[in-house]
Amino acid sequence: MNAQSKPAVILSDEQRCAVEAPAPLLVNAPPGGGKTSVLAWRVAYLIHTGVAPSSILTLAFSVRAAGELRDRLDAILERDQVRALTVCTFHALGLRVLRESGHLLGYAHEHDKQVNVADAGQAHALFGVVFAVEQHRANGIRVDLDALREMIGAQKAAGVTPEAFAGLSRDAHHLAIARVYADYQTALKRAGLVDFDDLLLQPLRLLETDVSTRAYYQARWQHILVDEFQDVSPAQYRLLQLLAGDQHNLTVIGDPNQSVYGFRGGMGAAGFERFRADFPNCTITYLPHNFRSTPNIIEVATTMLSPANAQLAVKAAGMPVFLFPANSEHQEAELIVDQIACAVAAGFVRFDQCAVLCRINAHARLIEHTLVRHRVPCVVLGVGSFFDHAEVKTLLACLRIAIDFDDSLSLLHLLNGFGWLNEKARDVLKGDAPELLTQHVFEHERTEQLPIDVQSDVRLVQTAMLQLDERKEQTPDEVIRFMLSDDGLRYRALLLQSPDCAERLERVTHFSHLARSHQHIQDFLDEIDTMSGVDPLSVVASDRVQIMTLHAAKGLEFKLVFVAGMEEGLIPHASAMQSERGLREELRLAYVGLTRATDALCLTFARTRDGRPRQSSPWLRGLRNVEMRRKPDWHRAISLN
Ligand SMILES: Nc1ncnc2c1ncn2[C@@H]1O[C@H](COP(=O)(O)OP(=O)(O)O)[C@@H](O)[C@H]1O
Ligand SMILES: [Mg+2]
Repeated sequence: MNAQSKPAVILSDEQRCAVEAPAPLLVNAPPGGGKTSVLAWRVAYLIHTGVAPSSILTLAFSVRAAGELRDRLDAILERDQVRALTVCTFHALGLRVLRESGHLLGYAHEHDKQVNVADAGQAHALFGVVFAVEQHRANGIRVDLDALREMIGAQKAAGVTPEAFAGLSRDAHHLAIARVYADYQTALKRAGLVDFDDLLLQPLRLLETDVSTRAYYQARWQHILVDEFQDVSPAQYRLLQLLAGDQHNLTVIGDPNQSVYGFRGGMGAAGFERFRADFPNCTITYLPHNFRSTPNIIEVATTMLSPANAQLAVKAAGMPVFLFPANSEHQEAELIVDQIACAVAAGFVRFDQCAVLCRINAHARLIEHTLVRHRVPCVVLGVGSFFDHAEVKTLLACLRIAIDFDDSLSLLHLLNGFGWLNEKARDVLKGDAPELLTQHVFEHERTEQLPIDVQSDVRLVQTAMLQLDERKEQTPDEVIRFMLSDDGLRYRALLLQSPDCAERLERVTHFSHLARSHQHIQDFLDEIDTMSGVDPLSVVASDRVQIMTLHAAKGLEFKLVFVAGMEEGLIPHASAMQSERGLREELRLAYVGLTRATDALCLTFARTRDGRPRQSSPWLRGLRNVEMRRKPDWHRAISLN
């Protein structure tokens, strides 16, 4: 969302207090309370009072949230000030610390090589080898590979090192598992890699044990601000404590009622209690207004969660909240398409102001198919999908080569993406050591074996690589422009020849847009590398309906929101219905979904799904103020806002 397109905002008294209060500070507010806004204004206020932007660290929960925060900061600060700030996710922060100081833990001590994040395939392969070795020992391991990986992952996420784990029990089976854990860590380290869990575990270890490194980071970031604090895990909290040290210059902002990552260790309400216990002198501020949603939406959402959470509405009443029952999942999807089409035709919304939220990815895909079939422009948000597109991979490969000339894997992507060299020529160059591909491209004896016409392609590759190498100090955006332009690598011209060039170019445009918020290529690549499996990234470069999971929607807002699949088994999800704790988290997740809507909210469910009968969600039953009989009048809705 472009913050600049919004009217000037006047802070409420409570917001002003929160912006100007001394740290440590805890800001608690329901959805739409202006928490993220306060965080941005507080950064501006600190800078205004003379704090150097480079000493401010701002942590967001996902890459998209960090991007949104940067946009908001861009709207109120000078460009140079925003650039000097550190605005990132916990994982990107971890990588930064490891890149700078990981050698103290024995990472990547060979000079020009730096720590990299293992991709899912690399981590899996390394783990598989270690597992197989241990299986061949006398005792063997009685759990399968995936279960063991998950188990060790849980230890890492909880901050338990291999040594600490080994010390927990003398049981032979436990010790065998401990060996796998230790060997896996060694294998990663030897390859100069860290996996996703290491991005927290290793910086923690470093800051816990190395006093001077700790002092260095404490001096470097004198103000630390955290958004969506309710989802912070104990390991992340420990990291915050270590970074803050005695200065206590911590600001945490969140809403316990929106804790939806308990399944990954998010502390929820307990995190707020712990903060109050650890910082007894902290200022606590509550923001009572809801600036986001209409009173009707707020009422339905709070009735569902708990009526005690009343908020002060700021906006006009707007239209009622609608509930649509459907006979099947297909009819449900059709219904959503119809309503979106009507709302857009009436001029109430643009496509990109609509979101369809689902509990699981498979449901999102089903809705996507129906929208696509009816030619409603849409996009499913999530990782993987966007960065897996060939053209995006090619651009990424070029950026990686610009900063690491010897990155043979990226060179291979580049050769594939640009269609340089035929497959046979590529094989000759790769030989039996693909990791030496870069070297081979510049080896005269090897390139001479290739047919004459292919040799000119080799020279093209050599030139391109040298040109990229010359650009390592440029911004990622500048390098991307060089790749696309006719004076550079002519990638745009190449893409124009493909049958689906419009979509490809749109993704390329979006990619360069993402790159623009980073000054250094490395920072941009790090952000992408440290995205977790649930980290959504906006891929909305144009006017499209956004389809995503409820988890991915956290922190976002849309004019018209559909929460689909309000049924027992989906919302709440079957996997969480067995425990009271699981159910509470599901309810908060639904609450997060409903409260994303600014002006219009529609809830849908299907009476049958996959041919089997379904019950509507138990949480729909207590709701009084939802409209089931009438359809929305989108023309009239315009005058209500
Ligand atoms: N004082 C204010 N006056 C008007 N609009 C505001 C104010 N504070 C925040 N907003 C707007 O309200 C919406 C919700 O704010 P946001 O900071 O995202 O809330 P939260 O992070 O608490 O969910 C945003 O569109 C934001 O621009
Ligand atoms: Mg927010």
